[in-house]
Amino acid sequence: MNLNLQGKVALVTGGSRGIGAAICRAFAAEGVRVGFNYHANPEAAEELVGQLRGHGVEAVAVIANLGEEASVLNLIDRVAAELGPIDILVNNAAVCPSGPMESYSWDVWQHTLNVNVTGAFLACRELASSWRQHQTRGKIINIVSQAAFLGSTSGHLPYDSSKGALLSMTRALARELGPEGINVNAVAPGMVKTEMVIKKLEAKLDFYLSRIPLKRIAEPEEIANIVIFLASEAASYITGATIDASGGVMMH
Ligand SMILES: NC(=O)c1ccc[n+]([C@@H]2O[C@H](COP(=O)([O-])OP(=O)(O)OC[C@H]3O[C@@H](n4cnc5c(N)ncnc54)[C@H](OP(=O)(O)O)[C@@H]3O)[C@@H](O)[C@H]2O)c1
Repeated sequence: MNLNLQGKVALVTGGSRGIGAAICRAFAAEGVRVGFNYHANPEAAEELVGQLRGHGVEAVAVIANLGEEASVLNLIDRVAAELGPIDILVNNAAVCPSGPMESYSWDVWQHTLNVNVTGAFLACRELASSWRQHQTRGKIINIVSQAAFLGSTSGHLPYDSSKGALLSMTRALARELGPEGINVNAVAPGMVKTEMVIKKLEAKLDFYLSRIPLKRIAEPEEIANIVIFLASEAASYITGATIDASGGVMMH
């Protein structure tokens, strides 16, 4: 299928590694100019910029903390200044602290919600209002999680709550922006081989595999392929949806 994404500009938050990096690579392979942020790992980000440019597209990495308003606004401005008006937003960046309910302080709770939800909201607000003004049929894809539906078995209450909020935001925004032809969708991965979950996988691989009908952990590219589809006009009649990419855990 030709997704006809050549020449578009995508902003991928948390694109420097893991699922975000796979999404950036998949966009570049489709001829999309890619801007992404990193937070603490400039080396990984610069290496990825080189890989993306190897596909013959422009790419830029910007340091940003999605938990700070000014930083999110700067990220959007920098990407648009270097690559042109942004057509596609992928809210992928997230933090995932671990521990029992009692262990979470106000600050950890707030930080998790700020990065995983409020930063995503700000990016949506800025880009969708610009799309409305310019009558651009933009695309928003939010990376949620099976935890938004099922919670976690390993103690991630603020993260699970943030993903539930991002899921609801997806649906609310899809309703609000639908009349302008702006599609807003979510992807809900199960377990994916990235740094976020690598320790859990090493400690309890058999437990996780026992719950997954497909009997394997996803590769980041398997999530990226869904995002690329949702960003294209091939998915033009899908909005407010959540694509279940849990290997059959949710069957949602
Ligand atoms: N892996 C899984 O099994 C799984 C399952 C379900 C859902 N997901 C979701 O998929 C998405 C990507 O997950 P992943 O596994 O690829 O995560 P990851 O490997 O931990 O990567 C996280 C990314 O977010 C960036 N980041 C961290 N804190 C940030 C902050 N405060 N501000 C801005 N960026 C920040 C990181 O930048 P640096 O590299 O600079 O640190 C990195 O690019 C997340 O939304 C996650 O919730 C993952």
